[in-house]
Amino acid sequence: MAIVVFGAAGGLGLSLTKALKQKFNDSTIIAVSRQPINQRVAGVHYTTIEDYTAEPLEQWVTEFNQRGEVLEGVVSTVGMLHDDDTFPEKQLDDLNEANLSKLFSVNAVMPLMILKACKPLLDKKKSRFFIQLSAKVGSIEDNYLGGWYSYRASKAALNMLLKTASIELKRSHKSFVVAAIHPGTTDTDLSKPFQKRVPEDKLYSPELSADRIVKVIQGLTAEDSGGLFHWDGKRLPY
Ligand SMILES: NC(=O)c1ccc[n+]([C@@H]2O[C@H](COP(=O)([O-])OP(=O)(O)OC[C@H]3O[C@@H](n4cnc5c(N)ncnc54)[C@H](OP(=O)(O)O)[C@@H]3O)[C@@H](O)[C@H]2O)c1
Repeated sequence: MAIVVFGAAGGLGLSLTKALKQKFNDSTIIAVSRQPINQRVAGVHYTTIEDYTAEPLEQWVTEFNQRGEVLEGVVSTVGMLHDDDTFPEKQLDDLNEANLSKLFSVNAVMPLMILKACKPLLDKKKSRFFIQLSAKVGSIEDNYLGGWYSYRASKAALNMLLKTASIELKRSHKSFVVAAIHPGTTDTDLSKPFQKRVPEDKLYSPELSADRIVKVIQGLTAEDSGGLFHWDGKRLPY
């Protein structure tokens, strides 16, 4: 049985790979990333992928099939908030089409392309979960502050796409869970530019967040499929 981490080179990807290796002793852990990973965990299998788009994902599926493993679960951290050309918008005037499209592509389209690619690998009885890291700011009901248009909207779209997929998969894979998890503000490159405003006790280490996420994964049941979960396991509103 294999658990695959997509986006394994990021702050949470590295720590989740380690935590999954520790907590799922009997499973093969496969870490997939667009970049080579130096901080390796003993016993984990590392693979690079060109990007999280249809063709490279199909090639990855072929490679996975050659291993002869059953896919137990997937944890995807793939997502972005900023890069050299993109910064979260404070107001409508900051919006531009290219950045809005980029955020939708990375935060909503890529995770669903990963799920689509993995679907043929799912065993009706043995495959257990598809987990995508999402964000509480993607909750429409919980949006009191505004701003961060692209990030919020792309994570809200992600949540809807995951919920929709959970309904489809429930019909064929009764015990399979598709869920989104909010990791909490974690000290990674993604949160670096925004950490000054975060109280010290609300900025979590990647190791702590990874342990919490793995605990949530371990506690999920079929009834939880389609949900958005806080790192403490509580369900968040959409
Ligand atoms: N850190 C936080 O405070 C926080 C809070 C709430 C939600 N989250 C969510 O948690 C997840 C992981 O965050 P993180 O803090 O670990 O961020 P990170 O260190 O930036 O890692 C994000 C991962 O996403 C992939 N990625 C980023 N930009 C991409 C692009 N343009 N194209 C394709 N893949 C791309 C990368 O995968 P490769 O390994 O392939 O390079 C990277 O490992 C994200 O979905 C984020 O939205 C984080």
